Amino acid sequence: MKQNTLLLIKPNSTGKNQIGSILKMVEENGFVIEQLKMFKMDEELANAFYAEHLGKGFFEDLSAFMRSGKIVGVVLNREDAILKLRELVGNTDCTIAALGTIRAIYGVSKGENAVHASDSIESAEREIGLIFS
Ligand code: RTP
Ligand code: MG
Repeated sequence: MKQNTLLLIKPNSTGKNQIGSILKMVEENGFVIEQLKMFKMDEELANAFYAEHLGKGFFEDLSAFMRSGKIVGVVLNREDAILKLRELVGNTDCTIAALGTIRAIYGVSKGENAVHASDSIESAEREIGLIFS
């Protein structure tokens, strides 16, 4: 089934001129770009976007990192987009992400891991609504 998912290119990548390379990887893997915008996250959006992580030990670092620079939000469409993008993105911790995945190539650490990808149909709908409303 064709579906939409949300990719965020995080500040560690936008700050190093890696936007084009990451978009090239997703297009070469069969994803069609449906919507695209550059924006900055403020505290309110970080709290809403990462509501499931509020109160966790890494939340303040995560929030500060996501507010530290420009983000590119991309709605991507393809067959099984959510699962396929998670595969292409790789493990949260870029030091153990599979060779050739976006996080293995562009990630710096477990926190500064280059990109976000929605993890379920419900998350994709919620996150696309938050970023593109
Ligand atoms: P994402 O939501 O960004 O696609 O990543 P994910 O599902 O693989 O990871 P998740 O558990 O949802 O965590 C969200 C983001 O929080 C940061 N994080 N830091 N230092 C840490 O232990 C830690 N754990 C998570 C990462 O930036 C992760 O992508
Ligand atoms: Mg997640």
